[in-house]
Amino acid sequence: MDWSERSLRIAAFRDVYAVTRRAEEAEERIRDLHLSHGTGQEGHCLLLVGPPGAGKSVALRRYAARHPDVEEQLRTHRRILGIEVPPGCTLRSLARTMLAALGDVAPSRANQVEATKRVHTLLKACGVELVMMDEAHRLIHTDTDRIAYDAADYIVGLLNTNLCPIVLAGQPHIERVVTTNAQLGRRSVGEVYIGAYEWEDQDQRNEFRLVLNALEQALRLPFPFRLGSAETALRIHHFSRGLLGPAVLLIEEAFKLALDRSLGALSHPLFAEVVDRLRIGDGRRLVNPFVVEALAPAPAAGRDEAVRPRVEEESARRQRRRRQARSEGGHAD
Ligand SMILES: Nc1ncnc2c1ncn2[C@@H]1O[C@H](COP(=O)(O)OP(=O)(O)O)[C@@H](O)[C@H]1O
Ligand SMILES: [Mg+2]
Repeated sequence: MDWSERSLRIAAFRDVYAVTRRAEEAEERIRDLHLSHGTGQEGHCLLLVGPPGAGKSVALRRYAARHPDVEEQLRTHRRILGIEVPPGCTLRSLARTMLAALGDVAPSRANQVEATKRVHTLLKACGVELVMMDEAHRLIHTDTDRIAYDAADYIVGLLNTNLCPIVLAGQPHIERVVTTNAQLGRRSVGEVYIGAYEWEDQDQRNEFRLVLNALEQALRLPFPFRLGSAETALRIHHFSRGLLGPAVLLIEEAFKLALDRSLGALSHPLFAEVVDRLRIGDGRRLVNPFVVEALAPAPAAGRDEAVRPRVEEESARRQRRRRQARSEGGHAD
């Protein structure tokens, strides 16, 4: 297979969007907030929170794609302004990022006051109906809440001036941006949580398996492998701790190997190889879910947890399982 075909196949896989209840719920809440624009009500904000890799940015991008810019006679009507809060964010860099997204020609020259004024003017001039700030936890730099307080004030300023609602998306500690500032707290319409899938919860497990089936369709390999089968889905869940980001990465890497080796299907040994490749540092000592015969479900990643579980937790869990298996006379990893 030549490189361009390979790239196209991988890009098609990356484009897959699986409809999930949690993303639909997030979209509904964002739509409610969006509809409050132009009603004369004061601007409100909504938090979209969850651990990294859960699907927050995908939900935001999908909402923005459904509400594209409209070319009008004298302007481009920007219905949604989506920005990513820059790392090490200051109020100045936040204002500049918004200016750049609004098409300002020289955002880097403005100081904070000028930049903020221009942001307000451009938001109005472009007819922005909703601002979506992704990675909003980057507004908090320190343990003192100081930046969070300033950032909250800045956001209240935007809400006051433009009557334009704002979605703040990021890791759960963005709640502090809202809870440390009473004015912003008053403007909050709550939060939507997009988390990891719990294997033990039947509805969540079923949806996780449906997502895997949807992903498999996009691979277009000659032979099916049944990613969503209980057997394989449990192993993918174990590796990803129920987060879609690591699950998709795992499948994509296995898919690449299958293409490079002209294999007609995925397989557990292929996944085992990819797990070994993807794990780094202490993670290498964790159980590889594709090489063991029997596997107990892993708990889903928690609210603030990145996907790699701590080694001690994992080995304690394995010991517990071994003890349990011995007492039941069965086999565990
Ligand atoms: N609904 C979905 N359908 C298909 N893939 C998804 C979906 N949600 C998330 N993903 C996958 O998970 C990855 C991580 O999602 P992302 O939205 O970037 O997570 P977060 O913003 O919560 O850190 C995405 O790059 C995508 O591959
Ligand atoms: Mg994200």
